[in-house]
Amino acid sequence: MKRRDIVVANWKMSPETLIEAKKVFNSVRGLAKGIRNTDIIICPPFPFLYPLLKLNHPKNVFFGVQNIASEIKGAFTGEVSADMAKGIGTKFSIIGHSERRAMGESNEIIRKKLQVAFDTDLIPILCVGEKERDKDGNHLAFIKNQIKECLTGLHKKYLVGIIVAYEPIWAIGKSYKEAMTPTDIHETTLFIKKVIGELFGGDIAVGSKILYGGSVEAENAGSIVEYGNIDGFLVGHASLSAEQFSAILKAADLKR
Ligand code: PGA
Repeated sequence: MKRRDIVVANWKMSPETLIEAKKVFNSVRGLAKGIRNTDIIICPPFPFLYPLLKLNHPKNVFFGVQNIASEIKGAFTGEVSADMAKGIGTKFSIIGHSERRAMGESNEIIRKKLQVAFDTDLIPILCVGEKERDKDGNHLAFIKNQIKECLTGLHKKYLVGIIVAYEPIWAIGKSYKEAMTPTDIHETTLFIKKVIGELFGGDIAVGSKILYGGSVEAENAGSIVEYGNIDGFLVGHASLSAEQFSAILKAADLKR
């Protein structure tokens, strides 16, 4: 089967109303029709998920949640279980986003969430990324440790085709001018593949998909696709703008 790139739209806590969410989704539906080789995963806030899921959407558009509970079920006020997300038709879950890590999510909790996702048949998108870079390369050790602690102990069969979104925290929520350069992205995605290979085997590394996230916009998407050695994007703020998201999708789709 031909390998497909992935573009994840992480809407975070936006837009403000369901009406606006439907508008954004409508524009994605329109755009998706011209996209041939790329899967689009829309991750709206929970209250908008079901109403959007009920609308028709092209075959290359999927839904994801931005988070799941680390427990399968039980008395956990405010949490949403993987089963609930799956039950209404969600296919993916972002796990371990840096904004959730900042709220206290540890690698250990993230590993539990990954296990829950696999048990529920939700496809996880594991986020990793350093807070800052330093010339001694300590950020690489940091990323390696995140991958190791999040994935070690999970059954190897689950790691086949694992999706990792590399999102350097310092580059998130800014403009394309402050995003990571395509060359640095290339180096880091190679490093991530190497780490996955060392820890879990070359076959797992080859089958893995590495996305880049952090201020991907219309202006830098093309060069990251060309030089960044990525299998797609995780897009935050630009995924809410039809114009921006259209350019990003087209850039991703051109690669194949
Ligand atoms: P950004 O967010 O595209 O707004 O930088 C990316 C993310 O945090 O997932």
